[in-house]
Amino acid sequence: MNLAGFRAVCDDGWRRVNDTPGFLSEREARFLMLAAAAAPADGAIVEIGSFKGRSTVGLAYVAQRYGLGNVVAIDPHTSPSTTDPDLGSRRSSYDEFQENLRRAGVAEAVDCRRAFSQEVARDWSRPIRLLWIDGDHLYEAVKRDLALFRPYLAPGAIVAMHDVVGTWPGPLRTFVEDVLGSDDFGPAGCFKSIGWAQYRPTNRRARGFRWRRWRLAVALRHLIPVAEAGWVTTGLDRWRHRFWWRLLPHGAVDPARWTAQVAIK
Ligand SMILES: C[S@@+](CC[C@H](N)C(=O)[O-])C[C@H]1O[C@@H](n2cnc3c(N)ncnc32)[C@H](O)[C@@H]1O
Repeated sequence: MNLAGFRAVCDDGWRRVNDTPGFLSEREARFLMLAAAAAPADGAIVEIGSFKGRSTVGLAYVAQRYGLGNVVAIDPHTSPSTTDPDLGSRRSSYDEFQENLRRAGVAEAVDCRRAFSQEVARDWSRPIRLLWIDGDHLYEAVKRDLALFRPYLAPGAIVAMHDVVGTWPGPLRTFVEDVLGSDDFGPAGCFKSIGWAQYRPTNRRARGFRWRRWRLAVALRHLIPVAEAGWVTTGLDRWRHRFWWRLLPHGAVDPARWTAQVAIK
């Protein structure tokens, strides 16, 4: 991937994402597009939780521009979990999802699976280069989504999880326990509320990343009770919450630095 060219692709992609309703900030969308384009692994881009297509549009735009195959977008479109967005008077987000993909010009680049992640996982057999988890945010569900698709991660693949920082305890706990706590993962970090890590099961250098994963895990672990309390803290707890939160990376993504970090030498 040519980094100078990627900036223009990313700007175009962001314009399309920005026109699509949903739950993804600009920094998060730009990171996701970078991860889709630059993950040094072959395989599918898999999204769990599409809703009206905001993240799908960014992923599909990049997939289209770089010939990465169709994005597999998994969602029953019924907002089945208590952590899902409200559908209002509608029974499904599917029609709006399709309309948004068409408007963004990416409908042809998306393989829509109108099903639960656990149903799709039953017949799954393809390697994955980017696994984007943004479905049911309950602890057991996030853990299950990672466990079901983890066996298919290609070496070098990226796992990115939404709402690790700042909203739900489920993704936060799963990221700390199952991603940062595992030597199968190498480089890892956060961008806004996204937690990400690179799958490097056989790379000996992965041990060198243990310290950085541990440091990130220490700060995030202290935020689990804060997330469980709905991010409402007072007095000394508020001070502690802010202290650990400030230790997390909060900058915008730098494509050159990030790509160098995940390059497999
Ligand atoms: C937070 S929304 C996704 C937001 C979307 N990624 C965006 O960029 O706006 C969560 C979605 O997960 C879906 N969902 C809930 N449980 C699921 C499951 N088990 N498998 C797949 N999708 C699921 C819901 O239907 C809902 O549309």
